Amino acid sequence: MSKQQRAKLVVGNWKMHGRLAANAALLQAVAQGADELPADVRVGVCVPSLYLAQTQALLDGSRVVWGVQDVSAFTHGAYTGEVAAPMVSDFGATFAIVGHSERRAYHRESAELVAVKTQRALDAGLTPIVCVGETLEEREAGATEQVVGTQLDEVLAKLSADEATRLVVAYEPVWAIGTGKSATSEQAQAVHAFLRARLAAKGAADVPLLYGGSVKPDNAEELFRQADIDGGLIGGASLKDQDFLAICKAAAATSVAG
Ligand code: 13P
Repeated sequence: MSKQQRAKLVVGNWKMHGRLAANAALLQAVAQGADELPADVRVGVCVPSLYLAQTQALLDGSRVVWGVQDVSAFTHGAYTGEVAAPMVSDFGATFAIVGHSERRAYHRESAELVAVKTQRALDAGLTPIVCVGETLEEREAGATEQVVGTQLDEVLAKLSADEATRLVVAYEPVWAIGTGKSATSEQAQAVHAFLRARLAAKGAADVPLLYGGSVKPDNAEELFRQADIDGGLIGGASLKDQDFLAICKAAAATSVAG
């Protein structure tokens, strides 16, 4: 499938932000704004799992789909504090982010654990958004492809070709997350092309590839115009309805129907 045929996808990652009242205002504004987007732009929000019921109630019937930021590696059991993928599915969710760099760094999540979580999400009928990305040190050492390639390979090794086609992959350079310093469109495109080739070798060339890391209204369109960038995973800017919708509009400007 050519770039022109792949839909755009913009997903907000709220991280640990939100309260009931603020969520309601944000979700309603996003649902309303999303109504005006062309059909080939998909929009999602990944909220703290505690707010899934609220999100489902407010977004059901809208163009916006929802999900969570992590799932347990287990389906059920004595795992205090964990949230299992089937529980997430109960609330009509579409997405589960897995392997976000903040979880790899602060919760010591290994590549192997991320692979298991990916499988759990797929088994529960969720679409995993598998995050990969290098640190600044790794980039400066020229190890970017080796790092993101290994992160992706660990996941792909556990999946059938059919399962691999059901992923979304997000390239999020750690040095660009929350820093205001996005990768340039050339830097991002180069890594996306590399990831695309790895996915193609597994028969999953058309998996949506999102870029994440300081995406803002003023750099989104340039990033989304790149051949292998199918949209974005948006942190800080997804908490402001106007900014998030402006990024969705940038995706629309680069989509076929837009
Ligand atoms: P920022 O957009 O805040 O840099 O965060 C990116 C991110 O980590 C999305 O998952």
